[in-house]
Amino acid sequence: MSKEPAVRRLERTTMDAQSWDERYSAARDGEGLWSAQPHAALAQIVTPLAPGTALDLATGDGRNGIWLAERGWQVTAVDFSAAGLAVARTRDTGAGAQRTGSIDWQLADVTRWNAARAYDLITMTYLQLAEQAIAEVITRASRWLAPGGTLVVIGHDRDNLTGGTGGPQDPAVLYTPDMLRAAADGLRILAARQLTRNPATDPESPGDNGQSAIDTLLHAVKD
Ligand SMILES: C[S@@+](CC[C@H](N)C(=O)[O-])C[C@H]1O[C@@H](n2cnc3c(N)ncnc32)[C@H](O)[C@@H]1O
Repeated sequence: MSKEPAVRRLERTTMDAQSWDERYSAARDGEGLWSAQPHAALAQIVTPLAPGTALDLATGDGRNGIWLAERGWQVTAVDFSAAGLAVARTRDTGAGAQRTGSIDWQLADVTRWNAARAYDLITMTYLQLAEQAIAEVITRASRWLAPGGTLVVIGHDRDNLTGGTGGPQDPAVLYTPDMLRAAADGLRILAARQLTRNPATDPESPGDNGQSAIDTLLHAVKD
């Protein structure tokens, strides 16, 4: 059986910045492509934390970054889609005098971007890349955490293909708890497990068919 070259396989299973731009541009009605609410599990983990510096990787149209800034975090939010960030800036209307947090939107590829400082919180939701690429992003992010810092990664789980709904249908870009645990370099793992979302009550995937979606959660801290 002939093997497909790794580079071509990566192109087939992941979307480049131009494809994401096209998706965000098609949805540019001010509403965004994704829910305007932060991911529920992310919000639950972050709510008890004292605000500090935060990095949201693959921020998309900005829901998690905006929510964090509204709660007083000084946020750096990175995505390689200019159209996604344009929607995020439009959505980010809450930046009134009341808001103590801030957002620095940065257009960059997270597989190459480097942090110039340490962060008290790093979040990443639904960045679905090939296993080695996602592991490298998580390992690098682990090293950018300040002592006491928290890492929250959430994505579509591989079991979603057989027992869930929505998300990419290629197993090569789907997560497992073991894969996320292994990638968290030098961190103390508080949770590396599946999460079940009920699309009837959860705004993540409004187009889904009513079945529960299976995500993977990594929650880790730097001691
Ligand atoms: C499914 S969206 C999730 C957006 C956001 N995190 C959320 O949960 O609403 C995935 C995002 O990852 C971004 N992305 C994919 N590959 C990327 C890369 N290599 N560097 C930066 N952003 C990337 C896309 O542009 C897109 O905005």
